[in-house]
Amino acid sequence: MDHFYYNRDYQETIVLSDGTSAVLRCVRPEDKDLLQEGLQHLSPDGRYRRFFSPKPVLSERELKFLTEVDGVNHVAIGALRQGQEDQFGLAIARFIRLKDKPDTAEPAIAVVDEAQGKGLGTALFLRLMAAARERDIRRFRAEILAGNEPIKHLLRDLSSEVSIEPRGREEIINVPIPDFTPVNLEDHPAAVSGPFRQIMEALNSGGLLIRNTWRVLRDLLSN
Ligand SMILES: CC(C)(COP(=O)(O)OP(=O)(O)OC[C@H]1O[C@@H](n2cnc3c(N)ncnc32)[C@H](O)[C@@H]1OP(=O)(O)O)[C@@H](O)C(=O)NCCC(=O)NCCS
Repeated sequence: MDHFYYNRDYQETIVLSDGTSAVLRCVRPEDKDLLQEGLQHLSPDGRYRRFFSPKPVLSERELKFLTEVDGVNHVAIGALRQGQEDQFGLAIARFIRLKDKPDTAEPAIAVVDEAQGKGLGTALFLRLMAAARERDIRRFRAEILAGNEPIKHLLRDLSSEVSIEPRGREEIINVPIPDFTPVNLEDHPAAVSGPFRQIMEALNSGGLLIRNTWRVLRDLLSN
């Protein structure tokens, strides 16, 4: 995974719409406590939407699964508020490649209540798409609870070709990932940083639609 941009060395700081900063990086095995603590900052409704169950705490087994990822078939990117001496988990986004359809992955995301509505979910999903494309994943297939408007809103803002199939109490959202070439930083030592360049390429290709493009670009440029 070392040749990927989104690998264990990836780290960037973004500015959210309220002016606060968030550090984005790939999730590590030692993040178990951050994850458990973060869950406590997600409302019962948010937990249900993420896990399809009340999920008061994560078991040791779940924590292991969610933090000890291989970086190729299972990629997880977290967002942190970095204090002087401590850090606080703000959000986590991941995808898991489907075993029987290697060009497709199931994404999942959760942003703690206090950080919602500030663009963090969108920012993480963009990185998730770029990380997926690097690993030859062409589409996301998300199973969501019917009526989860925030995630539908987020995905419809990001991609021009989102389709939604009703499936009982759930909905299946298909999100094609635009065909843009993830940048090889060694070829572009002086170029604009990775995610920005990737997003520009995706916008140019017409496959990525961001209704609030200017806000996203302003946030990226201010970093
Ligand atoms: C879905 C979720 C990840 C969105 O994260 P977020 O950081 O709040 O998203 P953003 O701030 O980037 O907002 C994305 C868009 O959704 C819209 N949105 C946010 N909350 C909304 C709400 N309650 N209802 C409708 N739209 C909403 C925003 O207005 C924004 O659109 P805009 O940019 O056009 O204004 C977050 O609500 C969450 O963690 N939910 C609980 C877990 C979950 O449902 N996960 C998805 C299934 S795995």
